[in-house]
Amino acid sequence: MKVLFYAAKNYDKKSFEPFEEQYPDVAIDYIDHELEPRTAMLAKGYDAICAFVSADVGAETLTILHDIGVNIVLMRCAGFNNVDIEKAKELGITVKRVPAYSPEAVAELAMALALAVNRRLYKAYNKVRENDYTLKGLRGVNFHGKTAGIVGTGKIGAVMCQICRGFGMKVIAYDVYENPSLKDFVEYVSFDELLERSDLISLHCPLMDSTYHLINLETIKKMKDGVILVNTSRGALVDTAELIEGIRLNKFLGVGLDVYEEETGNVYEDRSDEIMMHSVTARLLAFPNVMITSHQGFYTMEALAAIAETTLDNLMDAVNGVHTANDVT
Ligand code: NAI
Repeated sequence: MKVLFYAAKNYDKKSFEPFEEQYPDVAIDYIDHELEPRTAMLAKGYDAICAFVSADVGAETLTILHDIGVNIVLMRCAGFNNVDIEKAKELGITVKRVPAYSPEAVAELAMALALAVNRRLYKAYNKVRENDYTLKGLRGVNFHGKTAGIVGTGKIGAVMCQICRGFGMKVIAYDVYENPSLKDFVEYVSFDELLERSDLISLHCPLMDSTYHLINLETIKKMKDGVILVNTSRGALVDTAELIEGIRLNKFLGVGLDVYEEETGNVYEDRSDEIMMHSVTARLLAFPNVMITSHQGFYTMEALAAIAETTLDNLMDAVNGVHTANDVT
């Protein structure tokens, strides 16, 4: 079975190669190009393609894949908002994904961002490197005894609840469904109450019409002064322009973002030589209480290994016509 692996990075090869022995019938070719209508033809002669979060798996791409005989699309990620599901169904293309690989990977990064902005670790690191041992600008707060507000208590949010409990925090949460595994220590409240009571707010709900710009100036104004906001979920949960207004109102002790609205085009690219003409990200980065990372929540050895193994299992299931919870179509 031949698989063409789009937008391949070194870390992809490193995480898939250890599974070669386990799947001797699978031959993977890795290419740098992103999957899009212009590059879909490259998959001619392959049985399946493997794509990631920034691929264009829209109607045009799917039609080309179908026309050249590729009817298996393996998404090596949880999200599938970039796949035209209706078109894939119409063409009889099997699309599978990796719905869960390591919730701990993402939740641990969320807490890392919360701690880093609280204690200004990015500043402290640079100051000491410059022989500046003063404490100016580094004062934070204890998390112990404070209230963590978790928005979305699915797989990742539930782990974040446990991490916050480990720090001695009171944990409150908002979700459209309550997670029974958390009932011993999590108090479910309305979204407004979460905004009003939390010292740390961490977003772990999916991006949908109902959650688009969930964090905007109106909701920011309901938050406590000196709150820490962390987003490791999807950029558009936060209205960036209004977040900037909120920061200017001095609402936040810190803001930690692994995802942000402008990230497409940046994610996993080196743009350090470019002049950014209209970047709100650059505006955000100029604030002393903001730290941004580039969608690296999933980037641990354990998560990558789980993604590789599940993707190859998905290939076998697709070839054998086996339906599982990983099916998108
Ligand atoms: P999940 O599906 O297990 O949990 C999502 C939770 O959000 C569910 O409990 C659901 O009921 C809840 N929810 C739905 N609508 C809501 C609303 N309007 N308000 C509040 N809660 C709502 O998903 P999981 O695996 O925990 O992932 C959460 C998010 O993390 C994903 O949507 C994805 O965007 C993001 N993610 C980020 C990664 C990164 O590298 N930074 C990696 C993987 C996922």
